[in-house]
Amino acid sequence: MATQVRPDVPQPAPAHGARHVAIIMDGNGRWAKKRLLPRIAGHRAGVEAVRRVSRAAREMGLECLTLYAFSSENWKRPASEVADLMGLLRHFIQADLDEFHANGVRLRIIGNYKALEPSLVALIEDAVKRTAGNSGPIIAIALNYGAQDEMVRAAQALAQRVVAGEIAADAIGVGDIDATLDTADLPPLDLLIRTSGEQRLSNFMLWQAAYAELYFTDMLWPDFDANALAQALDAFRLRDRRFGGL
Ligand code: FPP
Repeated sequence: MATQVRPDVPQPAPAHGARHVAIIMDGNGRWAKKRLLPRIAGHRAGVEAVRRVSRAAREMGLECLTLYAFSSENWKRPASEVADLMGLLRHFIQADLDEFHANGVRLRIIGNYKALEPSLVALIEDAVKRTAGNSGPIIAIALNYGAQDEMVRAAQALAQRVVAGEIAADAIGVGDIDATLDTADLPPLDLLIRTSGEQRLSNFMLWQAAYAELYFTDMLWPDFDANALAQALDAFRLRDRRFGGL
Protein backbone atom coordinates (compact mmCIF):
# COMPACT_ATOMS: atom_id res chain seq x y z
CA MET A 1 0.00 0.00 0.00
CA ALA A 2 1.22 3.51 -0.77
CA THR A 3 2.39 5.52 2.22
CA GLN A 4 0.19 8.45 3.05
CA VAL A 5 2.07 11.72 3.33
CA ARG A 6 0.51 14.15 5.81
CA PRO A 7 1.06 17.62 4.35
CA ASP A 8 0.85 19.22 7.80
CA VAL A 9 3.54 17.04 9.41
CA PRO A 10 7.24 17.70 8.62
CA GLN A 11 8.59 14.71 6.73
CA PRO A 12 12.12 13.31 7.14
CA ALA A 13 14.43 14.14 4.20
CA PRO A 14 13.99 11.37 1.62
CA ALA A 15 17.00 9.08 0.99
CA HIS A 16 17.23 10.01 -2.69
CA GLY A 17 18.12 13.57 -1.67
CA ALA A 18 16.24 15.27 -4.49
CA ARG A 19 14.02 18.25 -3.78
CA HIS A 20 12.97 19.31 -7.27
CA VAL A 21 12.46 17.05 -10.27
CA ALA A 22 11.35 18.31 -13.68
CA ILE A 23 10.11 16.14 -16.53
CA ILE A 24 9.96 16.63 -20.28
CA MET A 25 6.98 14.36 -20.94
CA ASP A 26 7.74 13.14 -24.44
CA GLY A 27 6.41 10.29 -26.55
CA ASN A 28 2.63 10.56 -26.33
CA GLY A 29 2.31 10.58 -30.12
CA ARG A 30 4.55 7.53 -30.58
CA TRP A 31 2.70 5.67 -27.84
CA ALA A 32 -0.56 6.23 -29.73
CA LYS A 33 0.96 5.40 -33.11
CA LYS A 34 2.26 2.05 -31.83
CA ARG A 35 -1.35 1.20 -30.96
CA LEU A 36 -2.82 2.61 -34.20
CA LEU A 37 -4.67 5.22 -32.13
CA PRO A 38 -5.07 8.95 -32.80
CA ARG A 39 -2.54 11.27 -31.14
CA ILE A 40 -5.18 12.53 -28.69
CA ALA A 41 -5.33 9.02 -27.22
CA GLY A 42 -1.61 9.32 -26.47
CA HIS A 43 -2.14 12.69 -24.78
CA ARG A 44 -5.04 11.25 -22.76
CA ALA A 45 -2.81 8.41 -21.59
CA GLY A 46 -0.21 11.10 -20.88
CA VAL A 47 -2.62 12.80 -18.47
CA GLU A 48 -3.04 9.48 -16.64
CA ALA A 49 0.74 9.35 -16.29
CA VAL A 50 0.68 12.92 -14.93
CA ARG A 51 -1.78 11.75 -12.26
CA ARG A 52 0.29 8.69 -11.32
CA VAL A 53 3.57 10.52 -11.22
CA SER A 54 2.19 13.51 -9.27
CA ARG A 55 0.96 11.10 -6.58
CA ALA A 56 4.26 9.20 -6.60
CA ALA A 57 6.26 12.42 -6.32
CA ARG A 58 4.27 13.37 -3.24
CA GLU A 59 4.68 9.93 -1.71
CA MET A 60 8.42 9.96 -2.44
CA GLY A 61 8.85 13.22 -0.57
CA LEU A 62 9.70 15.56 -3.45
CA GLU A 63 9.19 19.22 -2.65
CA CYS A 64 8.52 20.13 -6.25
CA LEU A 65 7.64 18.37 -9.50
CA THR A 66 7.68 20.50 -12.65
CA LEU A 67 5.99 19.12 -15.75
CA TYR A 68 6.48 20.44 -19.30
CA ALA A 69 2.90 20.31 -20.59
CA PHE A 70 2.94 22.85 -23.43
CA SER A 71 5.93 24.67 -24.86
CA SER A 72 5.99 28.08 -26.48
CA GLU A 73 6.90 26.18 -29.67
CA ASN A 74 3.98 23.73 -29.46
CA TRP A 75 1.75 26.31 -31.19
CA LYS A 76 3.37 25.05 -34.41
CA ARG A 77 1.30 21.85 -34.09
CA PRO A 78 -2.00 21.51 -35.99
CA ALA A 79 -4.73 23.67 -34.43
CA SER A 80 -6.79 20.57 -33.64
CA GLU A 81 -3.97 19.07 -31.55
CA VAL A 82 -3.40 22.39 -29.74
CA ALA A 83 -7.14 22.49 -28.97
CA ASP A 84 -7.03 18.88 -27.72
CA LEU A 85 -4.12 19.67 -25.39
CA MET A 86 -5.85 22.79 -24.03
CA GLY A 87 -9.05 20.77 -23.51
CA LEU A 88 -7.15 18.08 -21.61
CA LEU A 89 -5.47 20.69 -19.46
CA ARG A 90 -8.78 22.37 -18.66
CA HIS A 91 -10.35 19.04 -17.77
CA PHE A 92 -7.34 18.01 -15.70
CA ILE A 93 -7.52 21.16 -13.56
CA GLN A 94 -11.28 20.81 -13.10
CA ALA A 95 -11.13 17.10 -12.27
CA ASP A 96 -7.98 16.94 -10.14
CA LEU A 97 -7.89 20.19 -8.20
CA ASP A 98 -9.86 18.78 -5.26
CA GLU A 99 -7.44 15.88 -4.86
CA PHE A 100 -4.43 18.19 -5.06
CA HIS A 101 -5.98 20.53 -2.51
CA ALA A 102 -6.94 17.70 -0.14
CA ASN A 103 -3.34 16.50 -0.21
CA GLY A 104 -1.89 19.92 0.55
CA VAL A 105 -0.41 20.30 -2.94
CA ARG A 106 0.36 23.79 -4.19
CA LEU A 107 -0.35 24.17 -7.89
CA ARG A 108 1.98 26.55 -9.72
CA ILE A 109 2.39 27.54 -13.35
CA ILE A 110 5.56 28.57 -15.14
CA GLY A 111 5.54 30.05 -18.63
CA ASN A 112 3.58 32.80 -20.32
CA TYR A 113 0.20 31.24 -19.48
CA LYS A 114 -1.55 34.61 -19.63
CA ALA A 115 -1.45 34.35 -23.43
CA LEU A 116 -3.82 31.36 -23.27
CA GLU A 117 -7.57 31.58 -23.77
CA PRO A 118 -9.03 33.97 -21.11
CA SER A 119 -11.40 31.44 -19.51
CA LEU A 120 -8.51 28.98 -19.18
CA VAL A 121 -6.33 31.72 -17.65
CA ALA A 122 -9.10 32.43 -15.12
CA LEU A 123 -9.43 28.72 -14.28
CA ILE A 124 -5.66 28.41 -13.82
CA GLU A 125 -5.40 31.52 -11.65
CA ASP A 126 -8.29 30.35 -9.49
CA ALA A 127 -6.65 26.92 -9.01
CA VAL A 128 -3.28 28.49 -8.15
CA LYS A 129 -4.94 30.88 -5.69
CA ARG A 130 -6.99 28.13 -4.09
CA THR A 131 -3.93 25.99 -3.34
CA ALA A 132 -1.48 28.83 -2.57
CA GLY A 133 -1.92 28.54 1.20
CA ASN A 134 -1.19 24.81 1.31
CA SER A 135 2.05 23.59 2.81
CA GLY A 136 2.62 20.39 0.85
CA PRO A 137 4.64 19.80 -2.31
CA ILE A 138 4.47 22.00 -5.39
CA ILE A 139 3.25 20.68 -8.71
CA ALA A 140 4.42 23.24 -11.27
CA ILE A 141 3.00 22.96 -14.76
CA ALA A 142 4.93 24.58 -17.59
CA LEU A 143 2.41 26.13 -19.96
CA ASN A 144 3.28 28.14 -23.03
CA TYR A 145 6.74 27.84 -21.54
CA GLY A 146 10.05 28.38 -23.28
CA ALA A 147 13.24 28.99 -21.34
CA GLN A 148 14.42 31.61 -23.82
CA ASP A 149 11.09 33.43 -23.53
CA GLU A 150 11.32 33.20 -19.72
CA MET A 151 14.81 34.73 -19.81
CA VAL A 152 13.70 37.48 -22.21
CA ARG A 153 10.82 38.37 -19.86
CA ALA A 154 13.23 38.39 -16.90
CA ALA A 155 15.69 40.63 -18.80
CA GLN A 156 12.87 43.04 -19.64
CA ALA A 157 11.69 43.14 -16.02
CA LEU A 158 15.23 43.81 -14.77
CA ALA A 159 15.79 46.47 -17.45
CA GLN A 160 12.61 48.20 -16.31
CA ARG A 161 13.91 48.22 -12.75
CA VAL A 162 17.18 49.74 -13.97
CA VAL A 163 15.27 52.45 -15.87
CA ALA A 164 13.19 53.13 -12.75
CA GLY A 165 16.43 53.61 -10.80
CA GLU A 166 15.70 50.70 -8.46
CA ILE A 167 18.90 48.82 -9.27
CA ALA A 168 22.17 49.58 -11.03
CA ALA A 169 22.79 47.64 -14.25
CA ASP A 170 26.25 46.52 -13.17
CA ALA A 171 24.92 45.32 -9.81
CA ILE A 172 22.70 42.69 -11.43
CA GLY A 173 23.88 39.24 -10.40
CA VAL A 174 22.87 35.60 -10.63
CA GLY A 175 20.56 35.98 -7.63
CA ASP A 176 18.62 38.81 -9.31
CA ILE A 177 18.05 36.70 -12.40
CA ASP A 178 17.06 33.70 -10.27
CA ALA A 179 14.57 35.88 -8.43
CA THR A 180 13.05 37.25 -11.65
CA LEU A 181 12.47 33.95 -13.45
CA ASP A 182 9.11 32.14 -13.31
CA THR A 183 10.74 29.61 -10.97
CA ALA A 184 11.77 32.30 -8.43
CA ASP A 185 10.27 30.61 -5.39
CA LEU A 186 10.75 26.97 -6.43
CA PRO A 187 13.57 24.90 -4.93
CA PRO A 188 16.74 24.53 -7.06
CA LEU A 189 16.33 21.97 -9.82
CA ASP A 190 18.03 18.68 -8.95
CA LEU A 191 17.00 16.24 -11.64
CA LEU A 192 15.70 16.73 -15.16
CA ILE A 193 14.09 13.68 -16.76
CA ARG A 194 13.19 13.29 -20.44
CA THR A 195 11.22 10.32 -21.68
CA SER A 196 11.02 8.72 -25.14
CA GLY A 197 14.73 8.44 -25.93
CA GLU A 198 15.31 11.99 -27.16
CA GLN A 199 18.37 13.57 -25.57
CA ARG A 200 17.86 17.32 -25.72
CA LEU A 201 16.43 20.05 -23.50
CA SER A 202 14.06 21.58 -26.07
CA ASN A 203 14.10 25.05 -24.48
CA PHE A 204 13.12 23.72 -21.03
CA MET A 205 14.57 25.24 -17.83
CA LEU A 206 17.89 26.11 -19.48
CA TRP A 207 18.99 28.45 -16.68
CA GLN A 208 17.73 26.19 -13.88
CA ALA A 209 19.39 23.10 -15.39
CA ALA A 210 22.89 24.60 -14.99
CA TYR A 211 23.78 22.01 -12.32
CA ALA A 212 20.82 19.65 -12.56
CA GLU A 213 21.47 15.99 -13.22
CA LEU A 214 20.06 14.82 -16.55
CA TYR A 215 18.29 11.48 -16.91
CA PHE A 216 17.07 10.09 -20.21
CA THR A 217 14.88 7.03 -20.57
CA ASP A 218 13.53 5.31 -23.68
CA MET A 219 10.18 4.79 -21.95
CA LEU A 220 7.35 6.73 -23.60
CA TRP A 221 5.62 9.21 -21.29
CA PRO A 222 2.25 7.36 -21.10
CA ASP A 223 4.12 4.30 -19.76
CA PHE A 224 5.94 6.29 -17.05
CA ASP A 225 4.92 5.43 -13.49
CA ALA A 226 6.01 5.38 -9.84
CA ASN A 227 8.58 2.64 -10.52
CA ALA A 228 10.10 4.62 -13.36
CA LEU A 229 10.33 7.70 -11.11
CA ALA A 230 11.90 5.59 -8.34
CA GLN A 231 14.49 4.29 -10.84
CA ALA A 232 15.35 7.83 -11.91
CA LEU A 233 15.72 8.86 -8.26
CA ASP A 234 17.93 5.82 -7.60
CA ALA A 235 20.17 6.91 -10.47
CA PHE A 236 20.17 10.45 -9.08
CA ARG A 237 21.24 9.22 -5.63
CA LEU A 238 24.35 7.61 -7.16
CA ARG A 239 25.43 10.73 -9.05
CA ASP A 240 28.46 12.61 -7.75
CA ARG A 241 27.38 16.26 -7.75
CA ARG A 242 30.28 18.66 -7.51
CA PHE A 243 28.76 21.95 -8.68
CA GLY A 244 32.08 22.87 -10.26
CA GLY A 245 34.06 22.00 -7.13
CA LEU A 246 36.13 18.90 -6.41
C1 FPP B 1 5.04 15.25 -26.02
O1 FPP B 1 4.58 14.13 -26.74
C2 FPP B 1 4.02 15.72 -25.13
C3 FPP B 1 3.42 16.95 -25.24
C4 FPP B 1 3.74 17.95 -26.26
C5 FPP B 1 2.39 17.36 -24.32
C6 FPP B 1 2.43 16.75 -22.95
C7 FPP B 1 1.05 16.80 -22.47
C8 FPP B 1 0.45 15.90 -21.67
C9 FPP B 1 1.16 14.81 -21.01
C10 FPP B 1 -1.01 15.99 -21.42
C11 FPP B 1 -1.47 17.30 -20.84
C12 FPP B 1 -0.81 17.65 -19.56
C13 FPP B 1 -1.44 17.99 -18.43
C14 FPP B 1 -0.65 18.47 -17.24
C15 FPP B 1 -2.90 17.92 -18.29
P1 FPP B 1 4.56 14.22 -28.31
O2 FPP B 1 3.19 14.51 -28.74
O3 FPP B 1 5.59 15.20 -28.79
O4 FPP B 1 4.99 12.76 -28.66
P2 FPP B 1 5.77 12.28 -29.97
O5 FPP B 1 7.12 12.96 -29.95
O6 FPP B 1 5.85 10.81 -29.76
O7 FPP B 1 4.92 12.67 -31.14
